[in-house]
Amino acid sequence: MKHFLRLSDLSKTELDEIIERAIGIKKDRISDKMRGKTLGLLFEKPSTRTRVSFETGFYQLGGNCVVLTPQTSQLSRGETLEDTAKVLSRYLDMIAIRTFAHKRIEQFAQNASIPVINALTDITHPCQLLADIMTLVEKKGEDLESMKVAYFGDGNNMANSWIEAACIFGFSLCVATPSDFAPNAAILYQAIEHSDGKSNIEITDNPKKAAKDADLLYTDVWESMGQKEDSEKLLDLKRFQVTDELASLAKPDFLFMHCLPAHIGMEVAESVYRGSHSVIYQEAENRLHAQKALMLKLMELNY
Ligand code: CP
Ligand code: NVA
Repeated sequence: MKHFLRLSDLSKTELDEIIERAIGIKKDRISDKMRGKTLGLLFEKPSTRTRVSFETGFYQLGGNCVVLTPQTSQLSRGETLEDTAKVLSRYLDMIAIRTFAHKRIEQFAQNASIPVINALTDITHPCQLLADIMTLVEKKGEDLESMKVAYFGDGNNMANSWIEAACIFGFSLCVATPSDFAPNAAILYQAIEHSDGKSNIEITDNPKKAAKDADLLYTDVWESMGQKEDSEKLLDLKRFQVTDELASLAKPDFLFMHCLPAHIGMEVAESVYRGSHSVIYQEAENRLHAQKALMLKLMELNY
């Protein structure tokens, strides 16, 4: 039984299979493979895409979903994650969890006897990366190792997830971020260890360097869910906005992606966000297909 808490919980071969299957599922949406099965969705933070794509995806596979929040469960009254995981494992077939500290989902998974999927923590958002890589493959083909991805802005859960993806898929990644808001040190350390000294990942505070010859420009919000308002941080991040000027340094056929929701005029200029290189809605749609393929893989089912 496998969990999906980090991208690296699955091998590159398994991740490649998921992306390939997701592209197939996109053409042929309905199946009955999950008939009689129930997916739990435990969300401790808001969500539009993740919650709806998991729920719709599981219905399209013939199954049912139960949505839980801390307020409507005994978690709000102090029931332990250990007991919650043990009990829910006796009703559900699989569960996707969105929470704050990554250790909460790890603790849940340690006590669960069903697959647990990370639907976002403060540290990583691996399901988003499945959709992002799928979109990259659809638009640019499978030769990921030849590509350069540039990430701009806060060194948050999305930046960390791109670092994990670069380690696995081998594309070059340049993260442009102020040094005070750099990506997670432990994830960076793992990336350096994994690289055998020939790292394909660079962290810089120079956004132009990151944009130069990039195939993909990526950004995310400057204040993530659960973070306190910090006006100094917003000032520091201003020069990392994805603008037309930065985009002019990228490859002529570059793509622009954003996991959404976006703050237009902050991390990205409206002209780039709505411009002809932007694939944000295809990327959002692909959450549905990629997660269906992921859930089938975790349940060891064919389509
Ligand atoms: N990208 C993403 O995870 O969106 P939601 O927060 O709406 O789920
Ligand atoms: N970094 C953002 C991603 C939202 C999908 C957050 O955690 O709020």
